[in-house]
Amino acid sequence: MIRLLNNIFLLLLIICFQAIDSKYIIYNTSQLIQPNKLNVHLVPHSHDDVGWLKTVDQYYTGANNSIRGACVQNVLDSVISALLDDKNRKFIYVEIAFFQRWWNQQSELLKSKVKELVNNGQLEFINGGMCMHDEATPHYVDLIDQTTMGHMFINKEFGQKPRVGWQIDPFGHSAVQAYLLGAEVGFDSLFFARMDYQDREKRKNEKTLEIVWQGSKSLGSSSQIFTGIFPRHYDPPDGFTFEINDVSPPIQDDHLLFDYNVQERVDDFVAAAIAQVCNCISVICTGTFL
Ligand SMILES: *[C@@H]1O[C@H](CO)[C@@H](O)[C@H](O)[C@H]1NC(C)=O
Ligand SMILES: *[C@@H]1O[C@H](CO)[C@@H](O)[C@H](O)[C@H]1NC(C)=O
Repeated sequence: MIRLLNNIFLLLLIICFQAIDSKYIIYNTSQLIQPNKLNVHLVPHSHDDVGWLKTVDQYYTGANNSIRGACVQNVLDSVISALLDDKNRKFIYVEIAFFQRWWNQQSELLKSKVKELVNNGQLEFINGGMCMHDEATPHYVDLIDQTTMGHMFINKEFGQKPRVGWQIDPFGHSAVQAYLLGAEVGFDSLFFARMDYQDREKRKNEKTLEIVWQGSKSLGSSSQIFTGIFPRHYDPPDGFTFEINDVSPPIQDDHLLFDYNVQERVDDFVAAAIAQVCNCISVICTGTFL
């Protein structure tokens, strides 16, 4: 009889847990690197074109959206407010041409809150130039000038220096970016996407999409920079793009829904993470890491 009661108790507990399953969970994002585990870093970042299909002003204000649906001031308004709502949220901002413009329009009160977001690591600037410059066509003086202008703004307003190079959309890559605008600027690492398809295939086969790149012969080892090349493009794995108008299956975490799909979505995500690791580096894929 006691055993039966115990069983009923257990059953009730399970039902209770199921009922609260889809409630708000506080995620602990302070755990950093876990040894002997595959550590997956989700990187929410801006990719705001500083004048591509429409003008810089049109991108900022959201004008002429029939040319391209883009309104950077709204991106910044909503990102900053989401960061202020929850300390576990993080965001990376890249293009200072837009950020500086937005910053100049904010109240002193909001500016002080944004400084706090930068100081506590919720908001980080990477690359930090006015834009993500092309590497093939501009003169190197322009590359230096536009990077310097952005970094001076970040230093003046936040007392920080960007540590990560982020060249995910230029068509072609130069050694000058790696040593002069990477290692010499003081970056720890450089990440880039877009590369010649044959080079990418070769690197996938040889597991050399992550390398230490020594961009300058004369500067030797002081010009070395950790470099990560994206295995495809810069977008998320298939099925995990949640932009407006995208068709990836949303995560439905309510047990009462017929379309409850947490296990399936978690499995897909783990598979995507493993596929990415196996495309980039050789060491981990030879062992088990889950
Ligand atoms: C989050 O994790 C860290 C590191 O493991 C731990 O020290 C801290 O107490 C945790 N915070 C909460 C709210 O669980
Ligand atoms: C942008 O929008 C303005 C105002 O609607 C219009 O006058 C202008 O022709 C548009 N520019 C382009 C390039 O479509």
